[in-house]
Amino acid sequence: MNWQDRWETTMMRNYGVPPLLLVKGRGSRVWDDTGKEYIDLIGGIAVNVLGHGHPDLVAAVTDQLQTIGHTSNLYATEPGLELAERLVELSGAPLGSRVFFCNSGAEANEAAFKLTRMTGRTHVVVASGGFHGRTMGSLALTAQPAKQDPFRPLPGDVTVVPFGDSAALDAAVTSQTAAVFLEPIQGENGVIVPPDDYLTAARAICDRAGALFVLDEVQTGIGRTGAWFAFQKFAVQPDVLTLAKGLGGGLPIGAMVAFGDAATLLTPGSHGSTFGGNPISTRAALTVIDVIEREGLLERVLAAGAQLTAQLPEVSGGKVDAVRGRGLLLAAELRGVTSAEVDLALRAQGILANPVAADAMRLAPALNITDVDLEDTVSRWGAAFDTLGVN
Ligand SMILES: Cc1ncc(COP(=O)(O)O)c(C=O)c1O
Repeated sequence: MNWQDRWETTMMRNYGVPPLLLVKGRGSRVWDDTGKEYIDLIGGIAVNVLGHGHPDLVAAVTDQLQTIGHTSNLYATEPGLELAERLVELSGAPLGSRVFFCNSGAEANEAAFKLTRMTGRTHVVVASGGFHGRTMGSLALTAQPAKQDPFRPLPGDVTVVPFGDSAALDAAVTSQTAAVFLEPIQGENGVIVPPDDYLTAARAICDRAGALFVLDEVQTGIGRTGAWFAFQKFAVQPDVLTLAKGLGGGLPIGAMVAFGDAATLLTPGSHGSTFGGNPISTRAALTVIDVIEREGLLERVLAAGAQLTAQLPEVSGGKVDAVRGRGLLLAAELRGVTSAEVDLALRAQGILANPVAADAMRLAPALNITDVDLEDTVSRWGAAFDTLGVN
């Protein structure tokens, strides 16, 4: 049986059959089972921030597994403690900030959702098109009817407002509101960047109502936009920050960081996770942070992002109007061609990107993507768009 048939036979039908079976990765390149090589511009959906097989990550994880691999939270480990301290430090947070570790973005938001209930209020406000995960709690915050409708009733008391609309947010948040959940940039919804003053407005609205401001940086965090966290560009401080994806550089980990009074809301016994904060994933995350610092990757992200933003439209034969996004969280805006067609054409030329919307291709490559990878990306991208013909 070929691998597609094996997938069809045994895998749950929640995913379609994937187009490729990948067998190897090095840096920003991956290979499929036929030996064909691709430039990986999606990086496991904005996860592989150091690319594939980074030697420091391999060494750290191997060493940690040989030293002590799992303890549960019945016992402390040094990597877990150190990562919590680093995250608090990187977020520029005041003393008293606290971290909860879990294993994914959905779990980080689930934890944040539960934390907000400890305020004694239940009402939360979210943005339409937002994505916060697929568990029942995080799905309740994911204001995308197609994903939610089959699973109703969901945990309730959620008001949905248009993303980027401060006036609508202001009207929805009341003295009964426990929290506002937002992404700084909506990633899954197609890399949608809100107006520059949106996060500061949201902060002020939350302050006015005594509501918690929860920022979901699962996709934007850990350098993806050229800052450790996207909120830092806007000089706002959330009450709660959720992280996952790039944090572990490919190892599964999620985190919720709570600041100030919000850090005191969860009490002993109120939440937990067997694997959360395990030494392997936290050691991986510490390595990711070290490499980003040592290799100056925050600056690299901005330069690489600017290069792709400028050059991809130039080689697209008029079929890419612009590239939107920040840093290395980008979407090419397509004209006269669907993302499904572009996806096929790119793959044929050896590029993996993500058809995030019918008219947009998402790019979220490794933060350490090399100059050679970028040059090859631009030439392969051009070749792919040449095969799509003239409008
Ligand atoms: C902003 C955001 N939050 C939460 C999630 C859910 O993360 P996970 O798939 O790790 O549960 C995602 C995943 O795409 C995301 O982009």
